[in-house]
Amino acid sequence: MTSEAGDINKYQKTEESLQDSQIELLALFNAIHDVILVLNAEGRYLKIAPSSAPSLYKPPAEMVGKTMHEVLPHAFADNFLNCIQQTLGTKKTVKIEYSLPISDQVVWFEASIAAMGEDKVVVVARDISDRKRLEDQLRQQAQDLEQTLQELKLTQTQMIHSEKMSSLGQLVAGVAHEINNPVNFIHGNLNPLQEYIQDLLRLTELYQKYGLSNQPEIQELIEEIDLEYIKEDLPKTLNSMTVGTQRIRQIVLSLRTFSRIDEAEFKEVDIHEGINSTLMILKHRLQDIEVITDYGKLPLLECYAGEMNQVFINVLVNAIDAIEQRKLQQRVAQIYDNIGKIKVQTRVVDSQWIKISIIDNGIGMNDDIQKQIMNPFFTTKPIGKGTGLGMSISYQIITERHGGKFECYSNPEKGTEFIIQIPIHQ
Ligand SMILES: Nc1ncnc2c1ncn2[C@@H]1O[C@H](COP(=O)(O)OP(=O)(O)OP(=O)(O)O)[C@@H](O)[C@H]1O
Ligand SMILES: [Mg+2]
Repeated sequence: MTSEAGDINKYQKTEESLQDSQIELLALFNAIHDVILVLNAEGRYLKIAPSSAPSLYKPPAEMVGKTMHEVLPHAFADNFLNCIQQTLGTKKTVKIEYSLPISDQVVWFEASIAAMGEDKVVVVARDISDRKRLEDQLRQQAQDLEQTLQELKLTQTQMIHSEKMSSLGQLVAGVAHEINNPVNFIHGNLNPLQEYIQDLLRLTELYQKYGLSNQPEIQELIEEIDLEYIKEDLPKTLNSMTVGTQRIRQIVLSLRTFSRIDEAEFKEVDIHEGINSTLMILKHRLQDIEVITDYGKLPLLECYAGEMNQVFINVLVNAIDAIEQRKLQQRVAQIYDNIGKIKVQTRVVDSQWIKISIIDNGIGMNDDIQKQIMNPFFTTKPIGKGTGLGMSISYQIITERHGGKFECYSNPEKGTEFIIQIPIHQ
């Protein structure tokens, strides 16, 4: 064989094996689900395989030879070109995730960009839309679960709180009931007692008038017991006993109104009674605070009376706490100038609404605190003092249970005002 014939033979063989490997490569491209693209440094598409790739922005025939900027949305092309240049600059594989709108759907890709020589890159892009959807679903489920958990936690604490309030209510009502009977007993007997004593005194006067008490023994006793003084003082004693029992009866009434044990249901009530009984319950904490009540002429209000009283006690206790906190911060002279004050004002707004304002000149709140007070568990009070539930429960009672509004305006210099607005008819 001549050397020329041998060269031709060699050339044919090389040609054949080249063709073979091209066929192999093509089969490989078609077998994998990824899209393989070759681009140059300016982002021009040189090759796309497989030519039938379904998840391409446009058919490969329309893309090859064009630049990314001619084919794709501009911002996207900018970003991708950056990655290509980064790959060529560093010779390191760059991985990115991106999405493109392809035939009415958002398709997500994960792509590796690798340098191919000095001025070309190969991009292997894989459709990861299914995985993304799954991830989104999982994320959404996790979020839903988190929210359900939060709601459960809140419900649980609210149940504990309302259980506490209702057992407190029962206790208060029970005590009030127990005191009520003996007090009525005493109170009821005071009038006849007064009459009996008057009768007896008249009798001694008769004895004295007819000289029957001139016996030395009787005279001695009259002096010993100071009959004149008894005559003068007895009515006063009886009077103060009457006043005393009347006060106890009032307190008992307040306790019963406050606990509203018999009135857990929706009914028409005089809201001032609720406020007054709450103030009475808090009397021991109001010793050094001036309470000003400025009541308008309100119609009876359809509401859950027991729950309304819970709101009043929550707001009033906060007001008392705020005044005490301010006093802790001030010098004695300042406290004297600026005595603690709580003003409760009620007004009819129009034929639909009434309004209750509770204003204190306590420590007040800055904007940051004010934004958070309706959040369950938010408290600025020391551990063990506040649970941070008072405002969130009150908010719920007013807005959700009664369709009302519960607003707070505060200023660290002046104090705080809570405005509760409630529809007259539910
Ligand atoms: N009148 C007010 N003046 C100043 N700060 C107030 C007033 N009312 C509420 N706050 C602030 O709002 C926070 C939340 O009040 P909330 O009644 O919900 O919880 P708390 O009083 O801390 O605890 P508790 O659950 O025992 O009522 C308080 O810790 C306080 O910082
Ligand atoms: Mg509170």
